[in-house]
Amino acid sequence: MGGLRKAPYRSALLAVALAVAGCGPERLSPSAERGRQVYLSQCTACHATDPARPGPIGPPVKGSSKELLEAKLLRGEYPPGYRPKRPTRIMPPQPQVTRDIQALADYLQ
Ligand code: HEC
Repeated sequence: MGGLRKAPYRSALLAVALAVAGCGPERLSPSAERGRQVYLSQCTACHATDPARPGPIGPPVKGSSKELLEAKLLRGEYPPGYRPKRPTRIMPPQPQVTRDIQALADYLQ
């Protein structure tokens, strides 16, 4: 009987697992999948695991263009005319992702 009572919990877990898998390798291009790995390892200390949501420190970054990523990650700036989501300058440049900016852009699109 215990098994039956646990079933709803298990299916909830399964639903979460499927939702996570839905954003995973199956639907992403190899470049976007690479970008996802880089994002999860380098950005989620401040930005949310789901880039569409606000993180503990940083704003949502879903939809960020390659141009915006280059300016913000490499130079701590914004592209000309871009209206930043926050007036602060808390985020340190992230030069370690230089080679993965295209992948990040592909993931965040
Ligand atoms: C130390 C915390 C921190 C880390 C790590 C970090 N960010 Fe940020 N990020 C911020 C904060 C805070 C802002 C808001 C502007 C500011 O204060 O610099 C921001 C702003 C941004 C913006 C501009 C959003 C907009 O449209 O105005 C982008 C794009 C961005 N981050 C991408 C990234 C990516 C990609 C990574 C990983 C490679 C990353 N950030 C790592 C804290 C961080």
